[in-house]
Amino acid sequence: MLKSEFSLRRALASVVLLCSFGLVPTGGAHAATTDWDALGGRDVVTTFTTDAVNRWRKNPVLVQFAQTDDAKAARLVVFLVEQFCAETGGGCTYPGKNMTEAHKGMNITTAQFNALAEDLQFAMDAANVPFRAQNKLLAKLAPMLKDMKGR
Ligand code: HEM
Repeated sequence: MLKSEFSLRRALASVVLLCSFGLVPTGGAHAATTDWDALGGRDVVTTFTTDAVNRWRKNPVLVQFAQTDDAKAARLVVFLVEQFCAETGGGCTYPGKNMTEAHKGMNITTAQFNALAEDLQFAMDAANVPFRAQNKLLAKLAPMLKDMKGR
């Protein structure tokens, strides 16, 4: 084998190796993305959050949303999208009240929290959000229950 041919083979072999370790950005499955990107970014998150808030308002278990009119619902969607973005590495700053303050006097129960999370899952399914990305968001929300339960 010629020396130049050998070096070329060696160079190709290292590229293949680096790609398989994800060290070379390939623009495909290896490209580094955030959990926010995996959710689908702002457009998809706004779509499923709007859907989720509408489901919450219709859910008889979630009585606390009885006073949430269309204007309040629209505002809630904006706050939730920023919160989800902040929680999943999208680089946003959540502008609202903390979870204890936001839910003061609502006496939220674990069953209600689960019902809300289930509606959110239905909305994410309807928006074709990958299962793994759904679970990552839900895992970020789960610890918030302790901040709002029974307050
Ligand atoms: C992971 C769970 C939850 C998250 C991330 C969440 C997040 C939020 C946020 C960001 C706000 C707006 C805060 C602000 O105005 O500054 C809010 C308001 C509110 N939340 Fe939650 N919440 C959760 C669970 C619940 C549950 C379980 C209930 C009731 C069963 C509930 C009922 C409400 C109501 C009624 C409002 C006020 C909506 C309005 O303006 O009419 N939330 N929540």
